[in-house]
Amino acid sequence: MFRAVDVILKKRDGQELTNGEIFTFIQKFTVGDIPDYQAAALAMAIYFRGMTRREIVALTRAMAESGHVLDLSDIADYAVDKHSSGGVGDKTTLVVLPLVAACGVTVAKMSGRGLGFSGGTLDKLEAIRGYRVDLSEAEFRQQAREIGLVLCGQTSELAPADGKLYALRDVTATVDSIPLIAASIMSKKLAAGARGIVLDVKYGSGAFMKTLDAARELAQVMVQIGVDDGRDMIALLSNMNQPLGCMVGNALEVREAIETLRGDGPQDLRLHCIETAAYMLALAGRGQRWTDHTENCALIEAKLMDGSGLATLRRLVQAQGGDVAMIDNPDLLPCAAHRVEVLAEDQGYAAFVDAVLVAKAALILGAGREKKGDPIDPAVGVEVAVKVGDQVQMGQRLAVIHANNPALIDEARSLIQQAVRLSPEPVEPMPLFAGVIDGRKS
Ligand code: URA
Repeated sequence: MFRAVDVILKKRDGQELTNGEIFTFIQKFTVGDIPDYQAAALAMAIYFRGMTRREIVALTRAMAESGHVLDLSDIADYAVDKHSSGGVGDKTTLVVLPLVAACGVTVAKMSGRGLGFSGGTLDKLEAIRGYRVDLSEAEFRQQAREIGLVLCGQTSELAPADGKLYALRDVTATVDSIPLIAASIMSKKLAAGARGIVLDVKYGSGAFMKTLDAARELAQVMVQIGVDDGRDMIALLSNMNQPLGCMVGNALEVREAIETLRGDGPQDLRLHCIETAAYMLALAGRGQRWTDHTENCALIEAKLMDGSGLATLRRLVQAQGGDVAMIDNPDLLPCAAHRVEVLAEDQGYAAFVDAVLVAKAALILGAGREKKGDPIDPAVGVEVAVKVGDQVQMGQRLAVIHANNPALIDEARSLIQQAVRLSPEPVEPMPLFAGVIDGRKS
């Protein structure tokens, strides 16, 4: 007879669980036959004892199959998806997806809300008046078929066991466990049905994984899960010590994404998006086309420069009920009432622009959530004007605070002053990427 306590005990004592034990545990937990305290106890046992590759794959599949697993094969020969492990100023999805779709590849993505300091992709999209993130599965499929691009929120049917377990992990200090994070992220990706998945795994001060080694380990585990499930996987390891691009805050990030799709935008964001999109093309080409990375980057760049990426974003926004006037004229996006410059109090070279402190400043202004369900102010945030390696003069603008509540400005300013650390010696710019893990070779 199955007893949840036996599974907890086995893992607590460092033994390997069978696939059957994992599946039954997750299935009973999903329907409420296993109480939260036993699931939390198992999460803590996994936190301390870890899991083997087979166990992690079983856990991921069990969570994916706890709800509806989408099959997109009747819509597209090959759909691609991307996932970012989350970062400060990370608006890459808004740029990358239209660029890839503009090359004729079907991209159907379900995104989450922000878990930490900054808003998630859905919060950014909701800065566009009328944009509907809550599509039904039928609408999701129809739009993917008709325009080859869909970007919406996860349905409650997508990996429900993960939603339940994540809520417990959040309050039992068991979030930062690589098997649990990997299974959580990948269960949603497997359930969403794409055959090719590019993972953008961040490391650094503004990331879940603070060190490159931890990010690499997480990326390797997630790639293995996907490969074992028959998906084509590539993971990029990307630097999240300083914000990506300049804008941190929901409408500000939409504006920056539009600028980037117009061929402008900050260099780091542009390069990051081109690389990510090029790897998505490589997966979609399945070794027969789009095999050369440099050529893929050039193709994506061409979609940036000829405006077809922007036109595809416009089609996406229109299809999901958003106000396309805001895409044509980003001045119509929500704007904060106050804009206050933060000036350098010294001179030197920017040695660190601490992403986590910039994110905290944006959070204080109202751009992110302290806890699940908190409201977000789409208009507020921080525009960072320096990158690591830049020479800074005394009195130069370091950032602009976009605030609606003037009482919050001083605290945000102080965080930004702490975030930008200057060195008297010249400093090298930070690399964008620290490596690629190509699951097609594993
Ligand atoms: N993102 C997720 O979806 N799950 C985690 O556990 C961590 C980050």
